[in-house]
Amino acid sequence: MNRRIHPMNLGHVRWIVDRLEASKGAGMNHSAREVRSRRSNLAVPGSSTKMLEKAKGLPADQVFMDIEDAVAPLAKPDARKNIVAALNEGGYDGKVRSVRVNDWTTEWTYADVIEVVSGAGANLDCIMLPKVQGPEQIQALDMLLTQIEKSEGLEVGRIGIEAQIENAMGLIKVDEIAAASPRVETIIFGPADFMASINMKSLVVGEQPPGYDVGDAYHYILMRILMAARAYDKQAIDGPYLQIKDIDGYKRVAGRSAALGFDGKWVLHPGQIDVANEVFSPTQDDYEHAELILDAYEWYTSAEGGARGAAMLGDEMIDEASRKMALVISGKGRAAGMQRTQTFTPPE
Ligand code: GLV
Ligand code: MG
Repeated sequence: MNRRIHPMNLGHVRWIVDRLEASKGAGMNHSAREVRSRRSNLAVPGSSTKMLEKAKGLPADQVFMDIEDAVAPLAKPDARKNIVAALNEGGYDGKVRSVRVNDWTTEWTYADVIEVVSGAGANLDCIMLPKVQGPEQIQALDMLLTQIEKSEGLEVGRIGIEAQIENAMGLIKVDEIAAASPRVETIIFGPADFMASINMKSLVVGEQPPGYDVGDAYHYILMRILMAARAYDKQAIDGPYLQIKDIDGYKRVAGRSAALGFDGKWVLHPGQIDVANEVFSPTQDDYEHAELILDAYEWYTSAEGGARGAAMLGDEMIDEASRKMALVISGKGRAAGMQRTQTFTPPE
């Protein structure tokens, strides 16, 4: 399956090849879809032509155009039209272009998908499905997409699916949801709807509910999503932080999911984009270090380097597991367009 390669993501192609190699023999599942950088996922209401236009010039990795909760019921038909026009006009170069449709329990989903994909399928990368409650909802979207792709003469299977986990049923079925279709690219945590779904005693997304003083109330949910994503080789994306003026708060909450291994987070305001891009990229030092480990390990395992399984890089012992960890960091750095300044020189 040929995925469109964004120019800024060329380095990522090598990473994917490496990851596929790394997964061989390790018993890992993987799909052949292109993995795209999604550190910052900018939410844009489809009802606002002004914001659809403004998003073109912002440095977010992904733009998702919304027809769901950021758009009032009466404005949904116009939002579909605005989105089709914006996608076809173009200008989102280098960004992943996604559209969030309404969930399958509403009366809007089929018309959202048909109008957007028939109208702009060639200029669209993913459909985001909110409030997913089971694998059959992904399969239904997959079948509908396949029909539209066939009838419009589009490449079948190119458009990906992003699955939002926003309620208890979605979370307990997240493994099946991740495995439901090769189109699934991301598993996204929807904290606002999720907190409502489980009756969490807080109104502030991302903050700990008052009375819970023994750790992070979101840890289980984030880890559950991350395990499903990693087991099925999908990206794990953290959802919105609604206090858009509180950049320190955003950084703190984003830092938690980034530390666990999430690939990116939603941004609701341009002011959150740079923070997301920074928090979900490796530091320059970690990136350089990872690239050195990869080069050094390749050399030491070669015949010229002594065909060794474990070797020293400075004061550090490196082995096959170090290579796997380095691959993750280097992949994120390359996808973010980071450049290395040091090269590995084999010992004399
Ligand atoms: C996002 O859709 C959320 O509910 O947090
Ligand atoms: Mg939601």
